Amino acid sequence: MYYPDPTIPNVLIGCGALLSGVSLIRRELNPATQMGYSKFAKATKSSVMVPSKQGMLVIYLPSVVLCLLGGLWSLDQARHVKLVAFFSLLHFLKRIYEVLCVHRYSGQAILKDNIVIACSYAGFSITQLYFTSKVPSSATSSYEMGLGMALFFLGEGLNHYHHLILANLRKDGAKAYKIPQGGLFDYVWCPHYLGEIISFVAMTLLSQHMLIFIFQLSSVGYLAVRAYNTRLWYEQKFNITTKKPCLVPGLL
Ligand SMILES: NC(=O)c1ccc[n+]([C@@H]2O[C@H](COP(=O)([O-])OP(=O)(O)OC[C@H]3O[C@@H](n4cnc5c(N)ncnc54)[C@H](OP(=O)(O)O)[C@@H]3O)[C@@H](O)[C@H]2O)c1
Repeated sequence: MYYPDPTIPNVLIGCGALLSGVSLIRRELNPATQMGYSKFAKATKSSVMVPSKQGMLVIYLPSVVLCLLGGLWSLDQARHVKLVAFFSLLHFLKRIYEVLCVHRYSGQAILKDNIVIACSYAGFSITQLYFTSKVPSSATSSYEMGLGMALFFLGEGLNHYHHLILANLRKDGAKAYKIPQGGLFDYVWCPHYLGEIISFVAMTLLSQHMLIFIFQLSSVGYLAVRAYNTRLWYEQKFNITTKKPCLVPGLL
């Protein structure tokens, strides 16, 4: 892992990443300000709503375009920069494939929230590539990058497998929510988020930059709160009390 010099810009960026993570988590903990998509899309009179599929395309398409451009730019950069560009692109292409061909959505999303998420993904994609390019090749660890690649495929595979289970709950065409079963759903409420978090760890190992680790901590915090809210949502929706953890089997 590469630790940049503690210059004023680097310290400010690190603190900014931490503060924005804390504000994102606080926002998600408040039911009135949760990001409005999927189960948590609560329309108000002034909200502009779009079908969930279109909302998800708004979220992911800008990042695909930026990652494609970043991939072209990375061609004459060091190996670790090329790897980060390639795996970022792969991640967003997988998400677009799932939005178009896997997920069976039931509702609508708040367009403004989708645009906010799209901007944060796009901004992070550029930031990640930029900081990765600042890591000198001599400071990279082949072991960490190898582990990063393995974890990327593990995380994305786990995430995709559980998206398929969720989609199968609606294979009869019904839009209702059911309690998911099978795979790690038997042990946690949100194994697809666990997969995504493993992917975050993978991208941190591939980028090798400490500031990217701080940015990814915010994303982990956001998904952890979203998983916690999902568990509360299942308890209310199905009138159950549960000891099943949100994210990590046997733990939390
Ligand atoms: N990087 C990040 O910060 C971040 C944040 C959030 C999500 N993500 C990624 O996006 C993926 C999807 O996230 P999400 O929050 O949209 O997941 P989600 O709420 O679990 O929904 C995923 C899909 O499954 C359906 N679904 C969920 N629960 C269901 C149930 N009980 N019965 C039937 N269908 C159900 C949803 O339908 P409805 O649309 O009708 O609810 C939607 O089509 C994650 O796994 C992750 O890969 C990334």
